[in-house]
Amino acid sequence: MIPLRTATAEASPNIALIKYWGDAEHTLRLPANGSISMTLGGLSTVTRVTFDPSLEKDSLLLAGAPAPPGAQERVARHLDVLRAHAGLGEHALVESTNSFPSGAGIASSASAFAALTLAALTAAGCGVDSNTLSRLARRGSGSACRSILGGFVEWQTGALDADSFATQLAPRDHWALIDLVAVISHVPKAIGSTEGHRLAATSPLQAARVADAPRRLALCREAILQRDFAALAEVVELDSQMMHAVMMTSSPPLLYWMPPTVDILQAVASWRRAGKGVCATIDAGPNVHCLCEPGAAADVERALGSVPGVEHVLACPPGGPARVLLPAP
Ligand code: PMV
Repeated sequence: MIPLRTATAEASPNIALIKYWGDAEHTLRLPANGSISMTLGGLSTVTRVTFDPSLEKDSLLLAGAPAPPGAQERVARHLDVLRAHAGLGEHALVESTNSFPSGAGIASSASAFAALTLAALTAAGCGVDSNTLSRLARRGSGSACRSILGGFVEWQTGALDADSFATQLAPRDHWALIDLVAVISHVPKAIGSTEGHRLAATSPLQAARVADAPRRLALCREAILQRDFAALAEVVELDSQMMHAVMMTSSPPLLYWMPPTVDILQAVASWRRAGKGVCATIDAGPNVHCLCEPGAAADVERALGSVPGVEHVLACPPGGPARVLLPAP
């Protein structure tokens, strides 16, 4: 019997400090602007891919149960991209589990497509460098290209498929920031980010947001490299508010915030005025990521826990890159 081609990989989600919102080209997921993120330690997706010539189609199990049809199709489409790269025709069984509770308010598409890409290419026997991995992960979910790398990561826009990938700005031990994720809702969002990217261009604010992105990217890059929290806080909050302003003014408009989202934004602003090293950023959902300087995290975590509407708080230090997990001996 010919042994099946199988491999398992692990990847962590990331929080965007400068956001990707809107595409220059949708199918290839070429972004309208560059972005910067921190990979989130302590959270991961583990995915096993097994190519099997006896399978008639791809199938996806999430935490052991068959995934909904939409997720199955998206994974099969991504496997087509990876098979084309690897020169492979076999269908695959994909078994994926998140270490964080599903519906914990952490977007899992970044870690999911980063882990899937690495596991599938490893199973296919393809040696790939991190630029190629990142570029291919991008095809599944834009932000997945950043989850291939650990620490602080920048995704260059690129003009073509070949040059749109992420690289590391600084390793995870460069700066011991903590992302406190204030989870206020588990309800899946009505409009996902793939559709949101398509709506971005309908906002009259998107062109200005994109035109100003190189300036914000430079400020964020510099703040990270210098470990300058005050400068980071200013640009991270500006960038997040600019993305949400675009969302709120798209046609149709997207409003991801809930009342506790605003309460947390106001609390974080008052804590910072009082001298705490904390700032807030929000992805495509109501939960608020509160980035803290190491010394501020314990107090902020306690205070967040008593804001009405906060269900729980996850504490994430900078995390590592996507990696292949070796089978148990
Ligand atoms: O990778 P996607 O298509 O899920 O888009 C991510 C969008 C944001 O999380 C809102 C911003 C970002 O850069 O991660």
